[in-house]
Amino acid sequence: MTDLLTKLTYQAFQQGKSYFGLAHKTLSTELLKLVNPPAPERVPQPLDIQVLNQVRIWLDEIIETDWQDAEQGVYPASLLFENPWEDFFRHYPALWLDMVDIQNRANRKQYQSFSPGVDTDGYPSYYLQNFHHQTDGYLSEKSAELYDLQVDILFNGGADAMRRRVLAPLKQGLTEFQSVPPKQIRVLDVATGTGRTLRYIRAALPQASLHGIDLSPAYLRKANQLLSEIPGELPQLVQASGEAIPYLDNYFHGVTSVFLFHELPPQVRQQVIAECFRVTKPGGLFIICDSIQAIDFPEMQPMLENFPVTFHEPYYRSYITDDLVQRLEQAGFETVRTENHFVSKYWIAQKPIES
Ligand SMILES: C[S@@+](CC[C@H](N)C(=O)[O-])C[C@H]1O[C@@H](n2cnc3c(N)ncnc32)[C@H](O)[C@@H]1O
Repeated sequence: MTDLLTKLTYQAFQQGKSYFGLAHKTLSTELLKLVNPPAPERVPQPLDIQVLNQVRIWLDEIIETDWQDAEQGVYPASLLFENPWEDFFRHYPALWLDMVDIQNRANRKQYQSFSPGVDTDGYPSYYLQNFHHQTDGYLSEKSAELYDLQVDILFNGGADAMRRRVLAPLKQGLTEFQSVPPKQIRVLDVATGTGRTLRYIRAALPQASLHGIDLSPAYLRKANQLLSEIPGELPQLVQASGEAIPYLDNYFHGVTSVFLFHELPPQVRQQVIAECFRVTKPGGLFIICDSIQAIDFPEMQPMLENFPVTFHEPYYRSYITDDLVQRLEQAGFETVRTENHFVSKYWIAQKPIES
């Protein structure tokens, strides 16, 4: 009975988030049309009702899977109700104010625009972008404060459920290291951003030693806040790029990366995969979570094409046709399998035991 009640509460909670995301997007689109309409080339193509229905079904399915994984003990059910309420009430008004700036920059095709005082020195040039037209790209406190809200609204409340889909394969893959004491299990999250995936990994693996890298100091500061709230050893955060991971060879039992690969140029994707291979222990696994690709659901092609029309995502078109299985195998990974949940795709790759 308690379980049924918890499940119903979770479904209602997610439905609320989903309606809120839809309402926010509809209202903001209509208001912006009046105040400052999008340039004609930024108007997305209308989507068939079948496409929209399919997305709705996938959202219901991922919520069910999220519940099932919690019920089977992959992580505590309390995780399902985590929501950054404080951030929501503090930063939601700023999100509205930011939308006008975003629209202005987008219409003027300003894709590398940073506020005075934002230090852009030393970053790879492909990174110095206003990804999703984000104010200051990933390089300011303001961007880090708004990011989680923006992403959750974009995915109608399903962003965290997508992040949590790395947990079951991660836990399953780590059974390879049953003889290793839980405290000595090491997991790295590459491009950890504001640390949400690490927070969920902490809940699934309370004793493991957790590490996160990201290029953005502002996002790492935000991650540090989020991760400091939870009990257990504090995950270690390092400012570093996925192309040059500052850890020893064969160091981690598991490596994850969520929503990074669509923001990398093709050759950098290969470099990051090669680095993840290097730092993964033989027998360990590497899990990528990112957008679905063209090959997965050809009927979704119009939705995938709309994404870089609405948002500045310079590498997305090449990402949706990139064969990451081939890239993972080229780096040395084997037994690569893929899964799809909601609008995301997962590559679960193992480093050969004898490597
Ligand atoms: C779309 S966000 C995803 C963040 C987080 N994983 C999540 O689930 O929300 C992309 C993140 O990748 C980081 N990033 C982009 N290129 C990177 C690179 N080459 N090395 C490390 N981090 C990178 C950005 O700073 C940003 O935090």
